[in-house]
Amino acid sequence: MEVVIAPGPELGRIAADAIEALLRARPASVIGLATGSSPLAVYDELARRHADEGLSFAQAKAFMLDEYVGLPAEHPERYRNVIEKEIASRVDFAPGAVQGPDGLASDVIAACADYERAITDAGGVDLQILGIGTDGHVAFNEPGSSLASRTRIKTLTRQTREDNARFFGDDISQVPEHCLTQGLATIMSARHLVLLATGRGKAEAVHQLVEGPVSAMWPATVLQHHPHVTVLVDDAAASRL
Ligand code: GLP
Repeated sequence: MEVVIAPGPELGRIAADAIEALLRARPASVIGLATGSSPLAVYDELARRHADEGLSFAQAKAFMLDEYVGLPAEHPERYRNVIEKEIASRVDFAPGAVQGPDGLASDVIAACADYERAITDAGGVDLQILGIGTDGHVAFNEPGSSLASRTRIKTLTRQTREDNARFFGDDISQVPEHCLTQGLATIMSARHLVLLATGRGKAEAVHQLVEGPVSAMWPATVLQHHPHVTVLVDDAAASRL
């Protein structure tokens, strides 16, 4: 595990460098996209490089980590719409190249299996962008998640719903209770994991991720078993290391 401590905007550039290197070496690469505020600096930098330097995603594919269950198709906080707004619409992905779990599927189990198959059929994820929750969750793998899990439906914890209420007018009753999420084993199948965390609120989770014992109670700690992980943190998020 490589840990890089740098100011926030620099972290976005470092992650964008890794994605750019991948795309320039193999334009048909598969990128894993994450929601949340942590990857926004990366997306801004990728959009800038697309506009100013011709960085192209035209042959690439992308897979999202997770999705809320039951949010209406046009809801602005539906992760499909968030990813569209933050990155997909700002670069030149081909139509249909960005996929996510279907939070509106009537058969959730089949939808999760289909999603796993789509990732495998695409050849797996080359580089997965990750954030981390204050309780150490990655994607929506909350504390207690199986380290061997695959894409499935999960119940969100009170902590995560409180953390995410800011996106729903600070009204926790508006935050969905369930989600579909890639499992920890799904995420571990990606060839390079790039995790970003900023701010003091993430310090304990980053401490556990880097220095804690591997435990389902801090799901991100499973990354210690991955051969190629880059952890990008600012001073505040690194303050407990
Ligand atoms: C949500 C997402 C995670 C993300 C986490 C942290 O729970 N499902 O993928 O890592 O939020 O978000 P933020 O980066 O905004 O702190």
